Amino acid sequence: LIVAAAASLPDALAALFGPDVIAESAVPALVDEQLFAEERAYIARAVDTRRAQFGTARVCARRALARLGIAPCALVPSQDRAPQWPAGIRGSIAHTAQQCAVVVTRAGPIMALGLDLESDAPVKAGLASVICTSQERAWLARFDAPTQDWLVPLIFSAKEAFYKCQYPLTSTRLGFTEVELDMNLEAGTFCVADLSDHVPERTRARQIAGRFGRIGRLIVTAAVLES
Ligand SMILES: CC(C)(COP(=O)(O)OP(=O)(O)OC[C@H]1O[C@@H](n2cnc3c(N)ncnc32)[C@H](O)[C@@H]1OP(=O)(O)O)[C@@H](O)C(=O)NCCC(=O)NCCS
Repeated sequence: LIVAAAASLPDALAALFGPDVIAESAVPALVDEQLFAEERAYIARAVDTRRAQFGTARVCARRALARLGIAPCALVPSQDRAPQWPAGIRGSIAHTAQQCAVVVTRAGPIMALGLDLESDAPVKAGLASVICTSQERAWLARFDAPTQDWLVPLIFSAKEAFYKCQYPLTSTRLGFTEVELDMNLEAGTFCVADLSDHVPERTRARQIAGRFGRIGRLIVTAAVLES
């Protein structure tokens, strides 16, 4: 099973999101001195690793927003932890211990973005049964064990990217088995079916297009909703 690997995270983000989306990434570092006072207050009591990821994401986000002509501003999450972007901006944030990345775009044809990063390090035994539907487990069973070790974090990541993309539109929390993925490994794409139907706006979230890539041991997943 060959999945095209990108040379770097910026290359992967550009390929996955296309030219209308601005991406910035960096290795997490403690950058408290580069944060706005309200951001520092928000994250003050977190452990160093979390403060580094949160802070580096803000630095990346301001760099990306500057490329859209937006002056530096505080980016404090809302109460539900979702990012709050300046008016007219859509975006998404992801981090691992090794990388932070942010994507932003001006609202227009692109209505929402979702980004996730995951290491493909071996996952906890039993994770597949928690995050996968029975159909996804049947699909996984077609692959050998080493391949499954990579596909389980890919499914996890794709569902998180989808979740981050749909949330600003629906304000709805979703369980992992409430959505089902149709992965196309050759094309590096995925479609998402929403299995729970109680929120009408979700019909829109059905059209979210997913893509994924790898840089070394890092899995990158992208979800984009176009009008
Ligand atoms: C919100 C969630 C997806 C974040 O994922 P994570 O692996 O914990 O962390 P990541 O590094 O990938 O992403 C963190 C970023 O997610 C963003 N985020 C958090 N809540 C969000 C939400 N409701 N909507 C959109 N983005 C959100 C934030 O920008 C955060 O970055 P910040 O803390 O620097 O502001 C995850 O914690 C969660 O709640 N998952 C449960 C729901 C789910 O994924 N269901 C899948 C089935 S659809």
